[in-house]
Amino acid sequence: MCTATAEPRRPDRLALLLSGRGSNLQVIAQAIDRGALKATIVAVGSDRPEAAGVAWARVRGLPVHVHPRADHADRDAFESALFADLEAAQPDWLVLAGFMRVLSAATVRRWRGRMINLHPSLLPRHPGLDTHRRALAAGDTEHGASVHFVTEVLDGGPLIAQVAMPLDQTLEADQVGELLRPLEHRLLLEVVQWLVAGRLQLVGGQVELDGQLLRQPRRL
Ligand code: GRF
Repeated sequence: MCTATAEPRRPDRLALLLSGRGSNLQVIAQAIDRGALKATIVAVGSDRPEAAGVAWARVRGLPVHVHPRADHADRDAFESALFADLEAAQPDWLVLAGFMRVLSAATVRRWRGRMINLHPSLLPRHPGLDTHRRALAAGDTEHGASVHFVTEVLDGGPLIAQVAMPLDQTLEADQVGELLRPLEHRLLLEVVQWLVAGRLQLVGGQVELDGQLLRQPRRL
């Protein structure tokens, strides 16, 4: 007689949403390839057919779902179509990696605790767009990136982890973005590793890592 009980399945199914270059998607996919991330990318979604990340995902043979906003009558129709495709792939986690659309409150609520966003600033400083230029304009001496759970508050959900670097005021915003990019890659990969290992949870409105309340975002 077999008495073995089945191990709970690891939450290792990832869907990524992107609108641009897709370098974070590449980092995640390459970490999976080399065995550094035990996960599967079950869907890549985008609103931008011309995004470099979409082209890269297609070449890689990843399941890609593109829904241009202009193909749909309104935001709800756009989002329903995109999320119908994503949800059909049954992801455990949804990773917003440069997805440039604001999601509806209904979608955010449905994915509460299962959707994270990578944002290029040290939140709560500089939510929204154009963060490198705004950090320079504000005279910030430190800048960085954050990963947070997504809530209805734009770029305002509970923070999970951050990376920081000194901000050289002589640089242009684009140069700041280039310097920050490898740090963002490291940050996102580490947080996704926590997710698929079942180490990270949103409990109530608070983040727990390894069962411990995270009072401050983890600095990586
Ligand atoms: C990153 O800088 C991220 O912080 C922001 O969008 C960018 C995505 O980069 N939200 P990529 O498309 O993954 O290269």
